[in-house]
Amino acid sequence: MRMTDLIEKKRDGGALSREEIRWMIEGYTKGTVPDYQMSAMAMAIYFRGMDMDETYELTMAMLDSGDRIDLSAVSGIKADKHSTGGVGDKTSLVLCPMVAACGVKMAKLSGRGLGHTGGTIDKLESFPGFSTAIAGDAFLRQVDRVGFAIAGQTAQLCPADKKLYALRDVTATVASMPLIVSSILCKKLAAGADVIVLDVKCGSGAFMQTEEDAFGLAKALTEVGRRAGRRVVAVVTDMDEPLGNAVGNALEVKEALAALRGEYTGDLMELCLTLGTQILREGGAAADDGEARAMLEKAVESGAALEKFAEFVRAQGGDAAAVYDPALLPQAPVQMEVPAAAAGTVGRIHAEDVGLVSMRLGGGRAAKDDEIDLAVGVVLHKKVGDPVAAGESLGTIHARTEAAAAEAADMLRACFEIVPDAVTRPPFIKGVVR
Ligand code: URA
Repeated sequence: MRMTDLIEKKRDGGALSREEIRWMIEGYTKGTVPDYQMSAMAMAIYFRGMDMDETYELTMAMLDSGDRIDLSAVSGIKADKHSTGGVGDKTSLVLCPMVAACGVKMAKLSGRGLGHTGGTIDKLESFPGFSTAIAGDAFLRQVDRVGFAIAGQTAQLCPADKKLYALRDVTATVASMPLIVSSILCKKLAAGADVIVLDVKCGSGAFMQTEEDAFGLAKALTEVGRRAGRRVVAVVTDMDEPLGNAVGNALEVKEALAALRGEYTGDLMELCLTLGTQILREGGAAADDGEARAMLEKAVESGAALEKFAEFVRAQGGDAAAVYDPALLPQAPVQMEVPAAAAGTVGRIHAEDVGLVSMRLGGGRAAKDDEIDLAVGVVLHKKVGDPVAAGESLGTIHARTEAAAAEAADMLRACFEIVPDAVTRPPFIKGVVR
């Protein structure tokens, strides 16, 4: 086989066969297919797309490029959750303990933040001593005993995706449906869970900007997952404004702890209840959605979910004192309010730009190896649809210095669109695709 022939076939709108896809992915992983040819192929796929058979074959070829985690030593149903990425997304910190407190185990691999989006691993490192370098038997034992574990991704899982994702990032080929589907699912399939719940973000802060595209992605993910023999559910959710109110590592942990104490009832909790409901029902722990939701609510009300979170922090070497006393988490020395310039209603909050404010304060990475400041970030006091008086605070900046806070305050004010008329908030949960 020759890579030029495959590129030509895809460029002209043809469908690649199973053998062709496998040959290409194996060659790319080994290095016999060079980056320049793979870039051309990624661009051809970007413009021509792939049908469902090709997308499935690409997913399976990338899955077979590396190791798989065998969760069979863990008793019961194992679930996993993935989000297509967003600003202020601390869902895993709340969802995993809620679900584990209801008896379904979660084996989760997470990443670090890059650019305007945060990473679960960075957030968890707000607990002194906490480590996500947990693998092999220790990972399995913890999932079995505690009910969940969150570990860093290893290089041995889907190496083809690692290479291809980095290539897509620099060749303007990330936003391709079959490439996104295969990239997300190969990693989820390799991680071994029986039930996979996907949070597909839709809106200005997401890969999929329109509902049509987000539902298209959700359908493709569930279909390829089903063909691969897993129970996959996708929930399409709004990402036109940040999730919850906090953006920044330790600030997001504080918000997650408030949610686990039952003190947070906004979009973050709604998302955790919706995703958790799918997991409990698909995992057989609840007969229907109503029962599942009631179980999750009870796990929060009774304190069982918070207790589970503390058990998890301890199991991964962290100091769990901050779970009960969040004032012990990293705190920034400067706090500055951001007053609204005019009265009105919040019409929009540009999610990606809020992520950039946090990054500029030092809470995110511009490059992979940058050090981050866990304490800094933003806490929003207003969300879309809220009325605002002139001079009322839109949010609080948490910064290292007064100068950094003042610069961030101007940036945050520009993230808000204040309009004269009342605004109806669009539904946060757009739909569930099974
Ligand atoms: N997340 C992934 O892991 N891969 C993509 O292609 C997009 C989002």
